[in-house]
Amino acid sequence: MNSMIRLRGLRKRFDHIEVLKGIDLDVAEGEVLGVIGASGSGKSTLLRCLDFLEVPDAGEITLDGRAVDAAHATKADVRYLRRHTAMVFQLFHLFTYKTALENVMEGLVTVQKLDKVTAEAVSRDLLDRVGLGDRVDHFPSQLSGGQQQRVAIARSLALNPKVMLLDEPTSALDPESIAGVLAVIRDVAAEGRTMVIVSHEMNFISDIADQVVFLNDGEILERGTPAQVLGAPATERARQFLARANLTLSRAA
Ligand SMILES: Nc1ncnc2c1ncn2[C@@H]1O[C@H](COP(=O)(O)OP(=O)(O)OP(=O)(O)O)[C@@H](O)[C@H]1O
Ligand SMILES: [Mg+2]
Repeated sequence: MNSMIRLRGLRKRFDHIEVLKGIDLDVAEGEVLGVIGASGSGKSTLLRCLDFLEVPDAGEITLDGRAVDAAHATKADVRYLRRHTAMVFQLFHLFTYKTALENVMEGLVTVQKLDKVTAEAVSRDLLDRVGLGDRVDHFPSQLSGGQQQRVAIARSLALNPKVMLLDEPTSALDPESIAGVLAVIRDVAAEGRTMVIVSHEMNFISDIADQVVFLNDGEILERGTPAQVLGAPATERARQFLARANLTLSRAA
């Protein structure tokens, strides 16, 4: 199986706190990896190290066959990782002064150097795909949270990344918006896009992920299929975490 992401010994410290303590991970092409764990366990840092939004201290990141030595990454290495990954953030990070269409077009024009006519056609198609064909001229302030997140996903897809990184894509949304965003993510995953998703939506992770890792204090404590990690965790720590997550879930229901 072709490995799309391969991490070996990835480490990151902030001041004197080691936030990632040597992460080893393999994600096959087309696979969806779910990352779960308590607040502060290092989930966002792990995602952010993959595209050098945070600079890791040590270890090796291999993306689709190109290995990057984290401690000695060149500008070209960082450019490669950023060019082939796309991050979807909890708080969308759209340009507030651009319309939905302009937000999606931005990367196509500035990064991919497409002409405006082609970029616009591609962007309209993508907005259609995420169910926003009738909202292309709206500004973010005129869109619901769920709609803004779907624009952000369309914008990521426009860059045709090898890997999509999603950091709690639904946690800032009201319950009504969540379903629409999850449906779009499911749709993108079904097309075979490799994804790493950090989420507290255990039902969603269980449904969409091929592989789940449970991060605890900067280490992978459990890894396996959703049935293994979510259904029959081996460690007491993961059992506690999941019991609490399920409690919150049943309260919200
Ligand atoms: N830029 C930073 N400077 C200093 N410490 C940081 C920085 N970013 C994260 N940390 C620390 O690193 C640890 C891991 O943070 P991280 O954001 O990766 O956790 P997380 O698992 O994503 O948590 P959450 O579920 O709350 O989003 C935390 O203790 C956090 O305080
Ligand atoms: Mg986080």
